[in-house]
Amino acid sequence: MADTYHWWQQGVVYQVYPRSFQDSNGDGIGDLPGITARLDYLVGLGVDAVWISPFYPSPMADFGYDISDYCDVDPMFGTLADFDALLDAAHLRGLRVILDFVPDHTSDQHPWFLESRASRDNPKRDWYLWRDPAPGGGVPNNWISNFGGPAWEWDAATGQYYLHSFAREQPDLNWRHPAVQDAMFGAMRFWLDRGVDGFRIDVIHGILKDAQWRDNPPNPDWRPGMDPYQAQQQIYSRNRPESHAIIAQMRAVIDRYPDRVMIGEVYAPNPELMRYYGEELEEAHLPFNFQLIRMPWGGRLVREAVDAYEAALPPGGWPNWVLGNHDRPRLATRVGRAQARVGALLLLTLRGTPTWYYGDELGMENVAIPPDLVQDPWEKGVPGIGLGRDPVRTPMQWDAGPGAGFTTGTPWLPLAPDYQTHNVAVADADPASMLRFVRAVLALRRAQPALTVGSYRSLDAGNAHVFAYLREAAGTRLLVVLNLSDDAQLCALPDPGGTATILLSTHGDRAGTAALSALTLRPAEGLLLQCDATLLTRPEC
Ligand code: GLC
Repeated sequence: MADTYHWWQQGVVYQVYPRSFQDSNGDGIGDLPGITARLDYLVGLGVDAVWISPFYPSPMADFGYDISDYCDVDPMFGTLADFDALLDAAHLRGLRVILDFVPDHTSDQHPWFLESRASRDNPKRDWYLWRDPAPGGGVPNNWISNFGGPAWEWDAATGQYYLHSFAREQPDLNWRHPAVQDAMFGAMRFWLDRGVDGFRIDVIHGILKDAQWRDNPPNPDWRPGMDPYQAQQQIYSRNRPESHAIIAQMRAVIDRYPDRVMIGEVYAPNPELMRYYGEELEEAHLPFNFQLIRMPWGGRLVREAVDAYEAALPPGGWPNWVLGNHDRPRLATRVGRAQARVGALLLLTLRGTPTWYYGDELGMENVAIPPDLVQDPWEKGVPGIGLGRDPVRTPMQWDAGPGAGFTTGTPWLPLAPDYQTHNVAVADADPASMLRFVRAVLALRRAQPALTVGSYRSLDAGNAHVFAYLREAAGTRLLVVLNLSDDAQLCALPDPGGTATILLSTHGDRAGTAALSALTLRPAEGLLLQCDATLLTRPEC
């Protein structure tokens, strides 16, 4: 049965932030040969695909999300030959490679933008979003940048403003222009022809803007101290209905190649998120589902969120789950290291494709960055309220040596203060480590079709701190029971009797059978059990 599913439905995606994974030349910055050298680690961990954040030529105003050439590798990260070697080495090991594609904006140093800003009559002028000042002078409308301040930058030489949804060094492309579409689709084909297995598409929901340039309305729920970007409802600068036709065209480019995946970065609530699958599933295979990153941690809350998401999926739409990425606080910092294991068990046993952020398997936490070492443009634009992303991008902790096994030089961001105790070498040798636990879950997931392609049904655990659900395929019924609190909890599943076999526990020290009618979970404990198909069948469960 599992054979009728695509690799990206059954597999686990591992996100590598290339600056921080493995440095191979001692400059303190990770690179492509470094990733190649660590592929066996990823195979041993048990993931199926690696998504690499951008490594294209870039002035690094937003650390690679400001691209000056879509069809090359920044010398800091290596060469195209290094990329080909990485791809070959990955494929040889059965690992897929997903690239980050950034269509919303280029670098202000991209030759297209240099031409565009050269004069008003330059043929590439309309490749970007240039506007005259408002009638009384000043910015064309009230839109704000994600990184703070107005989204408009004045260009004195040509007397117009250009739009930048992020840093001023990231001018937005004009996706209504057919030549822009052709050029960007060509860039996608450049990598597809080289053999990449798909794309994670950056800010896919921001690709088109309102054709009338209307002001965004204020957000009544915004309060001082919150992210200033949230002060407006971004209804005209994001999530425009007309974006979907462009996204479908991107998907058509990808669909010319067999078995590739298109993941979309979409920050939108249900049901808006579901629009990004496309009415006929002709858009993203997987519009990123970020709700677990953003919501409070609690058994009932998470159950409700998962059930609502499952119910909102379009027919045939494949679910996906994310617990961490390079933009949001680390999992172990949000929920604590004990709950991070519960989170791992949740992420890797829910129905749908999980995306795992590098280092979360070590319980890596946010690292405090001294003010003089801050790199992130977001932190520089909106300082001091915790938006900065450097703390979640610190070097991977391989061993207890001076550069954590990441570099022989000075790392571009500080190492975590606890890297000597939290690293791959130490965790590998400790049967009770988070790393060993994650490996065990991934191995079980690989062996059990119920966990990849099986059905999902949540259960009433009789306790608001506990989230319990069944995964079932081909007569195998697995039960996941998670205690999302830091106190012991009694879980009262609504079935009078029966026992189940414990396959795995977050605490690593529990095996044998457990009675289902009165299951006690220790603080932050999660269990994966196998039960008889005659148990837990009552519909009110
Ligand atoms: C996405 C990326 C983020 C980047 C932004 C601009 O949200 O994940 O890291 O800063 O787009 O490209």
